[in-house]
Amino acid sequence: MNTKSLLLAHLVACVAALGVVQAVMLEVREGNSTCIKADLSASLSITYNTPTTSTTVQFNLPDSTTVDVGSSSCGSDGRPALLVGVFGPGHSLGLLFSTNGSVYNVDMLSLQYNLSDSSLFPLANSSNVVTVMTNSVGIWALLNTTYRCVSPASIPVEGAMVTFSGVRMEAYMTQEDLSPAESVCTADQTVTTATPTTASPTTTPAPTPAPPGPPEQGNYSVTTGNGTLCLKAMMGLQLNISYTSQSQNKTVQGLVNIHPNLTVSSGTCGPSISTLVLTHEGNTNLSFTFTLNTTSNKYHLSGLMLAANWPDMSDPVSVSNSSLTYLSSSWGQSYLCNSEQTLSIAEAFSINTFRLRVQPFAVSGGQFAAAEECQMDQDQMLIPIVVGAALSGLVLVVLIAYLIGRKRSNAGYQTI
Ligand SMILES: *[C@@H]1O[C@H](CO)[C@@H](O)[C@H](O)[C@H]1NC(C)=O
Ligand SMILES: *[C@@H]1O[C@H](CO)[C@@H](O)[C@H](O)[C@H]1NC(C)=O
Ligand SMILES: *[C@@H]1O[C@H](CO)[C@@H](O)[C@H](O)[C@H]1NC(C)=O
Ligand SMILES: *[C@@H]1O[C@H](CO)[C@@H](O)[C@H](O)[C@H]1NC(C)=O
Ligand SMILES: *[C@@H]1O[C@H](CO)[C@@H](O)[C@H](O)[C@H]1NC(C)=O
Ligand SMILES: *[C@@H]1O[C@H](CO)[C@@H](O)[C@H](O)[C@H]1NC(C)=O
Ligand SMILES: *[C@@H]1O[C@H](CO)[C@@H](O)[C@H](O)[C@H]1NC(C)=O
Ligand SMILES: *[C@@H]1O[C@H](CO)[C@@H](O)[C@H](O)[C@H]1NC(C)=O
Ligand SMILES: *[C@@H]1O[C@H](CO)[C@@H](O)[C@H](O)[C@H]1NC(C)=O
Ligand SMILES: *[C@@H]1O[C@H](CO)[C@@H](O)[C@H](O)[C@H]1NC(C)=O
Ligand SMILES: *[C@@H]1O[C@H](CO)[C@@H](O)[C@H](O)[C@H]1NC(C)=O
Repeated sequence: MNTKSLLLAHLVACVAALGVVQAVMLEVREGNSTCIKADLSASLSITYNTPTTSTTVQFNLPDSTTVDVGSSSCGSDGRPALLVGVFGPGHSLGLLFSTNGSVYNVDMLSLQYNLSDSSLFPLANSSNVVTVMTNSVGIWALLNTTYRCVSPASIPVEGAMVTFSGVRMEAYMTQEDLSPAESVCTADQTVTTATPTTASPTTTPAPTPAPPGPPEQGNYSVTTGNGTLCLKAMMGLQLNISYTSQSQNKTVQGLVNIHPNLTVSSGTCGPSISTLVLTHEGNTNLSFTFTLNTTSNKYHLSGLMLAANWPDMSDPVSVSNSSLTYLSSSWGQSYLCNSEQTLSIAEAFSINTFRLRVQPFAVSGGQFAAAEECQMDQDQMLIPIVVGAALSGLVLVVLIAYLIGRKRSNAGYQTI
């Protein structure tokens, strides 16, 4: 039984290692016994300030990460159950657990990073050690079971994002090794549908999800060095990319919604060129370039760049097109398109936009200026107007008929 679960654990670790990020094994011990064990991969995405703007760095939790024995603890002597992994010069990732006797969960995730580390943060304008934390982690399991989540799960932590994948973890352990009984996260349950009793990790998760619904509308912005908001965008984005699937060994059509909660925005503003960079789940980078024609005083989306490295892609995808003419409007105004719009970028890549409003220049007071609305919205406005006009015509006809009828019956009564 034990060797079997060890083998399974090993298999999961290998599968995770074959993916994009390497697996890390962390263990907290007290005396001779293990109380917390975590086998996981994590990708970290951190946004930090540079002298002129802000930028985002993305890296994986290195396999050289070790447990900080001094600050980690098993949860006895009134101390909380805490797992702290340390890496590099003064970086760390901490998981604080709690339990109510039947369920244990991660109460808090903390991330500490040292901006003096010029290999990770070459452009940082500060040398501070920054600590960010969150209480919304969403990791919980029954006591005496192993929490399993092979699917990637991103956790926003203030200006950073931690994406876990290939997780097998247990706290408050009563035996030396991870329990063979598992609490499987929701994401894995939907991926590998029919494996409720036998806790076998089967193969890799099926990488073709059902087509997503319309994307959530995100609120993105870019600020200048002095904190003034200079580019504002609200939009729902759906990427449509054809790429070679590793698991299926063929070209597939990937439809992915950009989740605002899992997206970090950055960029730059200039007098005639502004860019908005969106980093989604640490594996998708989208860069929008807006150009202002200073002669005509009109701007448009002139360039778009995508770099994506999704788990199932056999090769990272990188596409750009710098001769676009989408989303055009006048300086000092915003561009609005509530209707779904498709921006074709290249043969293998398009973006569907939903409820979009953007202003890349001359944003004042953090608010959108008056909008120029896209043709599609105007066409849609026409339908209710036409229907309205038809209805009011009908009402008029009925009214006239009624008045005529009333006049006739009035006349009828008078003769009696
Ligand atoms: C740890 O293990 C050693 C040998 O296996 C044993 O002698 C010792 O008593 C154990 N200590 C505790 C605290 O269980
Ligand atoms: C932060 O990094 C710098 C340079 O690598 C190092 O000298 C310093 O000790 C680190 N700080 C901490 C708290 O580890
Ligand atoms: C522990 O928490 C879970 C989830 O919040 C709840 O369902 C369960 O009833 C709690 N158990 C006890 C003993 O409080
Ligand atoms: C977990 O296992 C330990 C030791 O086997 C047992 O004492 C405890 O009651 C179990 N807890 C739950 C909630 O099953
Ligand atoms: C770093 O730059 C940001 C804005 O880019 C600014 O808010 C911050 O004060 C700067 N920090 C230092 C130490 O210069
Ligand atoms: C910030 O800088 C811009 C120019 O880059 C300037 O127009 C604006 O007044 C400045 N705002 C503040 C609050 O200093
Ligand atoms: C995705 O792109 C393909 C190829 O261009 C197209 O056939 C398909 O309709 C698009 N899907 C959506 C939902 O836009
Ligand atoms: C993938 O498909 C191609 C042809 O469609 C085939 O030659 C190749 O061997 C396949 N590779 C794998 C790993 O199945
Ligand atoms: C994003 O965050 C908001 C508020 O924090 C929450 O209401 C919403 O459900 C979240 N959406 C997703 C997809 O997690
Ligand atoms: C700017 O607009 C003017 C007038 O519409 C046009 O003639 C010119 O070619 C445009 N310049 C660029 C660089 O597109
Ligand atoms: C770039 O976009 C334009 C406009 O959609 C299109 O005509 C052109 O073919 C695209 N270029 C490439 C290299 O796909």
